[in-house]
Amino acid sequence: MAAATMQATDARVTTLLRTERLSKVYGEPPIQTTVVNKVSVEIRANALTLLMGPSGSGKTTLLMMMAGLVDVSSGQVELFGTDITGPEIVKAPAIRRHELGFIFQNYNLFLALTALENVAEVLRLKGFRAKVAYAQAKEALEAVGLGHRLNHRPAKLSGGEQQRVAIARALAGDPALIIGDEPTAALDTKTGQTITALLKEVISPKRGVLLVTHDPRLEPHADRILRIEDGRIIADEDRHG
Ligand SMILES: Nc1ncnc2c1ncn2[C@@H]1O[C@H](COP(=O)(O)OP(=O)(O)OP(=O)(O)O)[C@@H](O)[C@H]1O
Ligand SMILES: [Mg+2]
Repeated sequence: MAAATMQATDARVTTLLRTERLSKVYGEPPIQTTVVNKVSVEIRANALTLLMGPSGSGKTTLLMMMAGLVDVSSGQVELFGTDITGPEIVKAPAIRRHELGFIFQNYNLFLALTALENVAEVLRLKGFRAKVAYAQAKEALEAVGLGHRLNHRPAKLSGGEQQRVAIARALAGDPALIIGDEPTAALDTKTGQTITALLKEVISPKRGVLLVTHDPRLEPHADRILRIEDGRIIADEDRHG
């Protein structure tokens, strides 16, 4: 009986992203390095999943391939049921624009745009009208504690402030999957807590969060921790199990 109940529950778990023997090889023969090595993993909704591992273990490369931002060497990435490594790769930009919020390790803010414009322009690309985009962008920036920095360009913001603009931009428009590459690295303890709470809040049966982190402060909040070493997933820990 218990097993049957569990199966029924499992069937309802929404998989947002799936990789199948995903690999990335850099260089030309004979000097080649495999930086992501046959990674098969599912990222599910309703969970905060952490990806942890040493510097150079392939975390950023894996995330970028998951988002279709770096070409794969072999294997597959299925994003919301679409194989973006096959013929349907043409759909990747639209899927990314509408369903994915990506927080880059180096923020990738538009330097010529203010904080407000950085967030609003992404919402415009998602199809929001200007007035709505700007109102929502303001709200998103206020949520990360930047209500007083709306009209600053990145050069006039601290590292932690830029990181929070990047987070607001990724959360705006309610994408189904948030992927973050060290999103709390530049934040002090208190701001880090606010952002962690914010990232936890967006999780629902239809939405999930995947974060690369070295930050031990995030660990207690995780539903699942994937550990990567030399491009391989070496552990997959369910924190409720
Ligand atoms: N464009 C590239 N060409 C060649 N090698 C690369 C390229 N990008 C990354 N690498 C190599 O791939 C390996 C993994 O890099 P990656 O950035 O994915 O690591 P990471 O786990 O994110 O590290 P960190 O924690 O320092 O951010 C590194 O050894 C790096 O030198
Ligand atoms: Mg990295």
